[in-house]
Amino acid sequence: MKDLKTTREKFQVKLTSIVSLPQLELLKLEYLSRNGIVNELLKDMKSLSIDERKIYGQQINKLKDEIAKQLDSTQKKLISSLNQSKYDVTLPGNMRKNGSLHVVSYAIEEISKIFEKIGFIRMSYPEVEWDWYSFEALNMPSNHPARDDFETFYIDHPENKEFGKMLLTPHTSSGQPREMMRLGKPPIRMINIAKTYRPNWDVSHTPMFHQFEGFCVDKKINITHLKGTINYFVKEFFGENREIRLRPFHFQFTEPSFEIDITCDICDGTGYIFKDELQTKNAKSRSFAEKIKCKLCKQGWLELGGSGMVHPNILKFSGINPDEYTGWAFGFGVERVMMMKTGVGLNDIRLLYEGDIRVLEQF
Ligand code: DAH
Repeated sequence: MKDLKTTREKFQVKLTSIVSLPQLELLKLEYLSRNGIVNELLKDMKSLSIDERKIYGQQINKLKDEIAKQLDSTQKKLISSLNQSKYDVTLPGNMRKNGSLHVVSYAIEEISKIFEKIGFIRMSYPEVEWDWYSFEALNMPSNHPARDDFETFYIDHPENKEFGKMLLTPHTSSGQPREMMRLGKPPIRMINIAKTYRPNWDVSHTPMFHQFEGFCVDKKINITHLKGTINYFVKEFFGENREIRLRPFHFQFTEPSFEIDITCDICDGTGYIFKDELQTKNAKSRSFAEKIKCKLCKQGWLELGGSGMVHPNILKFSGINPDEYTGWAFGFGVERVMMMKTGVGLNDIRLLYEGDIRVLEQF
């Protein structure tokens, strides 16, 4: 009887330490299996008288029942607590936000792919550059008034005897002398996409922005190659319906020089918005409809950027014979072309660099 009492007590203690179903299963085996503790107790009966056996047997059965009941109720408790902590599959999940590239990086990728397809090599050159590559080698000597156009960030660093002051590249055109000197000899077909810096801050300027510079030098290169290449880029990037025009301009490093204009997508290049939009899809045959002036463009055209035929001096300065080779170049703003693309709808360039996730995640 004493054994029964200690068995009961020990079981009770062990049961309180059970926290999982597998543990409970082991305890059940320990006590109630064929060779378990309770059946072992039955072996003691041999030494008892018949009357004693009867009472002892009843007590063992009682103990067995008690243990079975307690195991059972602990099992129920464990199962119900497990159910409570299980996932509630009806709750909405925690959405993980996908990261993405910055919209300007997407534009850069798109631009490089467009030029890669026609054999242009993507290059990048130092962001911290010497005056010589940015100005002197581009036909802009230090006293030339054209240098005033480029309000430049100069670096507080001793001047280099050969290359002058250290600065942040104000334009990607510094890639032109760099590329000519890297290769030593044409043919050159380069697209230089890089960060550029000028101290301006307003709706259409940030102190850091990006430009892409197309540069092509070879034998017998002429304006038709320039126009054809830019036309190809415009159709690929903006869409088949956009047209370009070359407008005479002046740059130190090209002669002749042009500004490239592209037809406005808001007014289809007509310069007017037609009040009766349902009239017809073809803008040119809508001349009788009521119209108002397009506010986005100048008479149907938007400025894309500068270009021209490489000035002979530029070739000469970088060791290429202008009698043998000719070339063209253009320099456009990445943010600018990206914002001009149909459907982008950004009207302030500064939004791109304020890091506001609500703006950036829309692209
Ligand atoms: N570098 C000029 C600028 O930043 C743009 C430019 C104009 C680049 C004419 C060219 C070019 O290559 O031919 O304003």
